[in-house]
Amino acid sequence: MSSLNFNKVAGAVLATGLAVVGLHELSSGVFDKEPVAKPGYMVEVAAETGGGAAAPEVPPDWGTVLPKADAAAGAAVFEKCKSCHNADNGGANATGPNLWGVVGRAPGSHPGFAYSDGMKAEGAKLPAWDYQHLYEFLAGPQKYISGTKMSFVGLKKPEDRINVIAYLHAQGGTLPIPAPNPAAAAAPAPTASTGPAPAPGAAPAGKPTATGTTATVPTPGVPAAK
Ligand code: HEC
Repeated sequence: MSSLNFNKVAGAVLATGLAVVGLHELSSGVFDKEPVAKPGYMVEVAAETGGGAAAPEVPPDWGTVLPKADAAAGAAVFEKCKSCHNADNGGANATGPNLWGVVGRAPGSHPGFAYSDGMKAEGAKLPAWDYQHLYEFLAGPQKYISGTKMSFVGLKKPEDRINVIAYLHAQGGTLPIPAPNPAAAAAPAPTASTGPAPAPGAAPAGKPTATGTTATVPTPGVPAAK
């Protein structure tokens, strides 16, 4: 074999090898990929039997759910709270503190009420009740604040909590409703009847976000005293 022929043969072998490898790569690229089962987020359906709101939940997108929330339904939910609370402007404390303006108020700060140490500690951490913290607290008060005096089992259904928060917001709440953030719209719709729990991987109860400006009764322009 002349060296020219040898080169031709070697070149052909090399080209064939490359083609084989290339085909393999190509076919594995085409065939080995798992097809995406379902695009988008997964929605888990809350177990009907579970006690309390144990599972962590993705926070609702408050800017999306609050404008759609049913404050009248929230008023009906609030009937469950009335044995201990009222939400009237200037209403008296009872077994629980008066809840007028509680949305945007510092936890454990209503004058004249003897809060538990747990609730006072919450007030030291959290400048003001915001939607998300109320949502988590109302799911299971004792779970959220150990040692709380609020001996209420909690509201299991996300839509009940959203609606009652919308109702409380309408009772002197000082926190604005945020702009919708559709990226977080995996939130349960307040009108849903079966209580869907949103996607897994919930964020932990984090530090309060920009809610620290109106800790107590807001005087426009004057930050609340701490
Ligand atoms: C059995 C009585 C009882 C019931 C029913 C009850 N609460 Fe309470 N709630 C309390 C008490 C007592 C506190 C004070 C807790 C503490 O000091 O630890 C409290 C505290 C709170 C707070 C915090 C107030 C603050 O000033 O920081 C909110 C908000 C609240 N309750 C909302 C509700 C809602 C909404 C319902 C109904 C879904 C409800 N509660 C049902 C007794 C009750």
